[in-house]
Amino acid sequence: MPETNRKYLLAKRPDGKPDRDTFELVEEDVPEPGPGEVLVRTLYLSVDPYMRGRMDAGESYADPWEVGDPLRAGVVGEVVESNGTNFEEGDVVTGNLQWADYATARGSDLQSVNPDLGPISTALGVLGMPGRTAYFGTREVARPKAGDTFVVTGAAGAVGSVAGQIAKLSGARVVGFAGSDEKVAFLEDELGFDAGINYEETDDYRAALDEAAPDGVDSYFDNVGGPITDAVFSKLNVDARVAICGQISLYNAEEMPTGPRKLGKLIETRARVEGFLVGDFAPRFEQATRQLGEWVAEDEIRYRETVTEGLENAPDAFLGLFEGENIGKQLVQVGEREA
Ligand SMILES: NC(=O)c1ccc[n+]([C@@H]2O[C@H](COP(=O)([O-])OP(=O)(O)OC[C@H]3O[C@@H](n4cnc5c(N)ncnc54)[C@H](OP(=O)(O)O)[C@@H]3O)[C@@H](O)[C@H]2O)c1
Repeated sequence: MPETNRKYLLAKRPDGKPDRDTFELVEEDVPEPGPGEVLVRTLYLSVDPYMRGRMDAGESYADPWEVGDPLRAGVVGEVVESNGTNFEEGDVVTGNLQWADYATARGSDLQSVNPDLGPISTALGVLGMPGRTAYFGTREVARPKAGDTFVVTGAAGAVGSVAGQIAKLSGARVVGFAGSDEKVAFLEDELGFDAGINYEETDDYRAALDEAAPDGVDSYFDNVGGPITDAVFSKLNVDARVAICGQISLYNAEEMPTGPRKLGKLIETRARVEGFLVGDFAPRFEQATRQLGEWVAEDEIRYRETVTEGLENAPDAFLGLFEGENIGKQLVQVGEREA
């Protein structure tokens, strides 16, 4: 085992868009696990849009990081050493660890990953937090029914791609917004969406929806916000349900844009708009993961992962989320499994 560990710190708070200078890679000795702790070697690291909120001092839906703090992420890794925990060397675990080659964690803060359920990376994607976000946001908040039209933004991403397929399993007509023709082809040809809209090719989102959702929108899963959401609001039907999952188009905004607001449409339609956090459903995570696992095994739900190689490239993988460089779940592969 090497003696040196690499890890990323928050170098400074970004003004608007983060860049490489937001991150600092430092070296230290590989940490030793204290009593009740394990040492984990990182195999896969998840980069997620919510981390942008943690880089600001103000409130977001996750607590802020301090400048100089190690960055943290969902990690899948291999136990290297256990100091009085139930884990053994070679076990594959997942938890909230550091952007690092190695990190220590309390055994009680880690969960086992069962490699028989699928590739271990899926514990950070379709069978992990993003999959569960799609599951609860769709089934509990957006609640598409057979015959409904369901619209999802960020449709080719980790959450959106799964949300659209769950809506499809409910019998809805599914329309997804995504940022390239390649992504639209992925939605329509691989995931079975009824229509994809490349929002980079048109400014008239309303006209695109007139064509893709001619009967209006009954259920909307929003990952993006901004003008696309304004256009979807203008198409809501009576008793529509809107799940606000994310607003990535605004995460780097230095000022919150105003204008056009479509809230009047909510009066006419008696539609409900509801924000949610996946963590609110924690007592039911196991049930969701089991169901998602069954769907994946039966090929009812398909998933894609975009894997960036090397811890040193983790900042680029994170920054790429805001440029739409990923299809499906964006991961960083930091190490290979040895056991
Ligand atoms: N509420 C919760 O508990 C919860 C949990 C997890 C995630 N989330 C939220 O869910 C959303 C999706 O997360 P994810 O992990 O699945 O990420 P993701 O969709 O895999 O990646 C982000 C995607 O957002 C799109 N995007 C970036 N900037 C955009 C812009 N200005 N306008 C429109 N689209 C843009 C890009 O795709 P295009 O090429 O299509 O632009 C990019 O691939 C995020 O907003 C995240 O904050 C919420």
